[in-house]
Amino acid sequence: MKITGMKERGGKVWAPRRGGSPVGELGFWRAAARGAIEVGGTPCFVFAADPLVEQVGRLEEAFAGLPVRHWWSFKTLPLRAVVEWWKRQGRPVEVVSEAELKAVLELGFEPGSILVNGPAKHAWLGGYAVEGLRVNFDSVAEIRVLGRVAKKRRWRVGARLSMATEENFEFPGVRAQFGLLAGEVSEAAVQMRKFGLEAEVVHFHLRTNVGEARYYRDAMACAMALAEGVGWSVSILDIGGGFPPGRICTRGGLPLDAGFSLASMRGVVAEALARYGLRELWMENGRWLTAPGAVLAIKVLDIKDDPARGARTLICDGGRTLQAMVATWEKHAITPLVDRRGRRVATLVHGPTCMAFDNLGLHDLPVGVKEGDVLLWWDAGAYQLSWETRFSHGLAAVAWVEGGRVTVVRHPGA
Ligand SMILES: Cc1ncc(COP(=O)(O)O)c(C=O)c1O
Repeated sequence: MKITGMKERGGKVWAPRRGGSPVGELGFWRAAARGAIEVGGTPCFVFAADPLVEQVGRLEEAFAGLPVRHWWSFKTLPLRAVVEWWKRQGRPVEVVSEAELKAVLELGFEPGSILVNGPAKHAWLGGYAVEGLRVNFDSVAEIRVLGRVAKKRRWRVGARLSMATEENFEFPGVRAQFGLLAGEVSEAAVQMRKFGLEAEVVHFHLRTNVGEARYYRDAMACAMALAEGVGWSVSILDIGGGFPPGRICTRGGLPLDAGFSLASMRGVVAEALARYGLRELWMENGRWLTAPGAVLAIKVLDIKDDPARGARTLICDGGRTLQAMVATWEKHAITPLVDRRGRRVATLVHGPTCMAFDNLGLHDLPVGVKEGDVLLWWDAGAYQLSWETRFSHGLAAVAWVEGGRVTVVRHPGA
């Protein structure tokens, strides 16, 4: 696995001109994108610290006074500069693969601030003689294989439990592949005890874009009942991620966070801490935290204007196939880098690959958008770097904006 920006460095001093809050501020992103494109060209992911600082602030404010710990979901944004930024604040990181564990050890995270999640860890984790890791077991097989090393290396262990709402979205009625079913929890407890282990943590991750806080409440009750049933005295409940980000819509145009609020989550969390006598509650929000932390800058290469096509059609140097897999089910705003005049017309924005699939959706864009223009695709911070491809092209540039400096941490074509 290549952690973006792990080797390359190089920078440019850039004086941001922004007033007030950067989140939602077109001026901020335009200035940042200009600075980034000057060095890296397009397509370019422009990540910035300021919006992430805001999101962290919102989380902290929402759960102020409660023993809530936020873990960085590494897979959501495996960008070295941003993970280092997170680490400098003394915050912990959650990983789900061997490559991710290696990367965070290399970045200098203390084992106690590394949480190892994910399926099939027994295929690789036993080789890591790291003292004091935190590990959430995903299956009975994992416990059988890793129990001895977990005891020897004094890992603090937990168990991921499968919740009823975790349906496979492609195969309704079939559970997602993660965690222990209710019927497997007692065997998991037996296996752990063979090695002298007790689960200190119970964990679930419902899915991404959880629509309402009540789903968490129901899952908390279910997870705690399962733990109690096998005599685990759980002090930490890890509710995974899943908060839906603001501003992003379904492909059909409905806001993902229409039924969700941090205030409703606070209520659910405060109630759980008290009801279950928990010492801490953990969250691993990826998408909510990081989506607003970037824009994707792409250049218009060609325009097909004939009304017979049904929509104005732009062909750009970046798009869904290469950089924006989540555009398959999400609609993000698109804004030209410079103001363009004219009435707004239905415009289908495509990437450069030879696939009809390669589009960022149908948008109402000013008819004045022309060849050579740069478009900003908003809220590009979550999962895009993890999911990018080299389909017929190289990788996009990546820039990081922090403290008035734009650093191109990966040059295009890498
Ligand atoms: C275990 C776990 N934690 C956290 C996350 C982050 O989820 P999200 O980005 O929806 O917040 C995921 C995503 O798949 C996950 O599997």
